[in-house]
Amino acid sequence: MDTETRRPMASHRAVAPLSGRIAVPGDKSISHRALMFGALAIGETRISGLLTGEDVLRTADAMRALGAEVTQDPDGTWRVAGRGVGGLTEPADVLDMGNSGTAARLLCGILASHPIFSIMTGDASLRRRPMRRVIDPLTATGARFASRPGGLLPLAIEGAREALPLEYRVPVPSAQVKSAVLLAGLNARGTTRVEEPEATRDHSENMLRHFGATVHVEPAGSGRIITLAGQPELRAADVVVPGDPSSAAFPLVAALLVPGSSVTISSVGLNPLRGGLFTSLLEMGAAVTVANRRVEGGEPVGDLVVTGGALRGVDVPPGRAPTMIDEYPILAVAAAGAVGTTRMRGLKELRVKESDRLAATAALLAENGIRVEIEGDDLIVHGNGGPPKGGGLVATHMDHRMAMAALVLGQITEQPVRVDDASFIDTSFPGFAALMGQLGATISDV
Ligand code: S3P
Repeated sequence: MDTETRRPMASHRAVAPLSGRIAVPGDKSISHRALMFGALAIGETRISGLLTGEDVLRTADAMRALGAEVTQDPDGTWRVAGRGVGGLTEPADVLDMGNSGTAARLLCGILASHPIFSIMTGDASLRRRPMRRVIDPLTATGARFASRPGGLLPLAIEGAREALPLEYRVPVPSAQVKSAVLLAGLNARGTTRVEEPEATRDHSENMLRHFGATVHVEPAGSGRIITLAGQPELRAADVVVPGDPSSAAFPLVAALLVPGSSVTISSVGLNPLRGGLFTSLLEMGAAVTVANRRVEGGEPVGDLVVTGGALRGVDVPPGRAPTMIDEYPILAVAAAGAVGTTRMRGLKELRVKESDRLAATAALLAENGIRVEIEGDDLIVHGNGGPPKGGGLVATHMDHRMAMAALVLGQITEQPVRVDDASFIDTSFPGFAALMGQLGATISDV
């Protein structure tokens, strides 16, 4: 997306409690992985509930470019006819991963252990994001990478002829890096071993098992050691994608902040390694319960029942960051509507997301009259329980979550909150404004 397709939007304070029952789009992390594992399996994988946001569509395009057949039925089910582990073929053109760090980094893992040449690029946001974190470990498979200085996209990749299995300790908590190493290990002879210092989302491990790979996970302190036996024959397996908890977070916080609201968000993924926001909101005194808990497609799922009411400031420990890494902008908005100070600790990784989210979140709040500070890697938000002033124009920096966080804030501010560009919301949450409208929120183009 370029500047010509910018989409300014505004959010006006809710005049009545939000109410209703909605479902949010499918989980982005699981959607990328379902397409990738489907492409690496023998047979036809059917995927229901796949997120059709732009990030995931980039992954679908990339899998097609690498020789898998990816189609969508009229009823919305996706089908992937896979090529088998090691069976992907050379793409005829550059692979453009758009705005998606997950697509780019996971795909690097796949490409490292296929003996093919490829070039990968992305949009201006993705071309600023660090790729060294995957290039460095993946080079030890025998693959060769050439990038712009600093390990930035575009990237040329010459996959290894016979990839070596990796033994790697991930230096930063990152499910993307862990997954890239595991994906490379699929087509390496021998056992791949990844150690992560803190446990991060385990969708890759779960899905590898679901497709028939042998994966062992053992706890190691607050982290885990994962081993994968190389060159399994992955068998096609149907995938049911749950609602994305990272997307549910936006209507959830909106409902909590608008007094008297009563909202149910159905079929939300409840993987504990994605649950840090819920833990934090409960500590803030949020009235959220889970109904109809069940397991769907190997992932825990439930309906979130949310009632609006007062929140109080809390201290969010750094160890919680991996389980809520994408949720800090919206937690900061919740903190802005709470009584008291919220300190969110250890947010270093926020600086290398779709935007520098530590700086962008602070700017979002300050622009709307909320007292906020950054101290080292901590974000401190002072809420006074009253409606914030609002009236700001928020710079979203090509970042979907900054746009949605700002538009949720506008539900409680005295003056409307505007964003410079809401177009990137389509990367993860197509239909966001309309769905919020179903609950009674007024979020519209300007
Ligand atoms: C993701 C991992 C996280 C997260 C991203 C999705 C994944 O990134 O921020 O939105 O699907 O593995 P990091 O691995 O960089 O923490």
